[in-house]
Amino acid sequence: MTKSAFDRRDFLKGVAAGATLATLPGLALAQGAKVKVGLMLPYTGTFAALGVAIENGFRLALAENGGKLGGREVEFSKVDDESDPAKATDNVNRLVTRDKVHVVLGTVHSGVAAAMIRVTRESGTLHIIPNAGVGVATGPLCAPNIFRTSFSNWQSGYAMGVVMSKRPKVKNVVTLTWRYAAGEEFVKGFKDGYLKGGGKIAKELWLPFPQVEFQALLTEIASIRPDATYAFFAGGGAAKFVKDYAAAGLKDKIPLVGPGFLTDGVLEAVGAAGQGMETTLHYADSLNTRRDNEFRLAYAKTFKLQPDVYAVQGYDAGLLLAAGMKAVNGDVGRKKELIAAMEKTTIDSPRGRWKLSKAHNPVQDIYLRKVAGVENKSAGIAVKALDDDPAMMAACKMG
Ligand code: PHB
Repeated sequence: MTKSAFDRRDFLKGVAAGATLATLPGLALAQGAKVKVGLMLPYTGTFAALGVAIENGFRLALAENGGKLGGREVEFSKVDDESDPAKATDNVNRLVTRDKVHVVLGTVHSGVAAAMIRVTRESGTLHIIPNAGVGVATGPLCAPNIFRTSFSNWQSGYAMGVVMSKRPKVKNVVTLTWRYAAGEEFVKGFKDGYLKGGGKIAKELWLPFPQVEFQALLTEIASIRPDATYAFFAGGGAAKFVKDYAAAGLKDKIPLVGPGFLTDGVLEAVGAAGQGMETTLHYADSLNTRRDNEFRLAYAKTFKLQPDVYAVQGYDAGLLLAAGMKAVNGDVGRKKELIAAMEKTTIDSPRGRWKLSKAHNPVQDIYLRKVAGVENKSAGIAVKALDDDPAMMAACKMG
């Protein structure tokens, strides 16, 4: 082959590759252009504070990276998803189709996240889930472009099940949560950990999301008198539930346990009602590692707020994306390399170092925590290096 023929062939290949990239939504990025990040989070409703903490955490990671991703400036588009699954497809399309973002960050609510995934899987847009624990995201709907920096609902449910299964006095438990994917998966995880120890579920109680009328259910728990109540609520709903549980006179009679979302970000609001409560989660206050102390100080200084698990998850999403973008020098078009770099990175998180599973879910230690004052203090690790629900792991056909 003559040199000129080689050059020409290479040139044509380059043109063809460029043309392909340019037609793929969310991929092409001109020299010097900004990286477009779409935030789809709840800014109103019961999960509003969670959305804010995630965005803050993400922005902090970015600021610590010189405000850039792979050397490029970042431009944000924002959508308030209201934690409403019915509006989720339109909302995510605003980011993917209208704004043509390169990366979508979202969201909190499992039902909304599941709808988002259906769109981002189809478009191929890089998607980082900074909270929603919905199993399918890293199960049957897993995909190379979908990553999660938080947890699966099953993980924190399972860990508390294991803890309770080791307590001989806890022979029967009532579960209570919102009836939607997340609530159902927390209960499934709890049962997977708890039932194998010989314990029983006295009753499963439910209410529709995002209702917070707990009185009738609390009366029912009082009449069943289980050895413990396992409940999942979060945000405004968690604050109200923890207070109502204590006000109903149940706090000292029937221990209330749950995934850490029940007490994260709500301790100032619940005051005495939360004291002594035990929960399981992939983060705790006062871990007192150098990494966590630095993060907490920087977050408190920047936002005049104490960080919580949601802030950590947003922060870790920023770390993950920054690692990927660095590897491709900010060229989002080099999708395969970007994804490969994200897959192999170790996140040096405030929660402790973690890596992704093959299905793109964090494999992580789950802490047992106990409320003291306004802190969810670590009482040690409940389950070490926990991966996802085996059923979801088996259902993910990737990697
Ligand atoms: C969820 O819907 O997956 C979800 C929402 C709030 C939480 C945790 C999980 O705190």
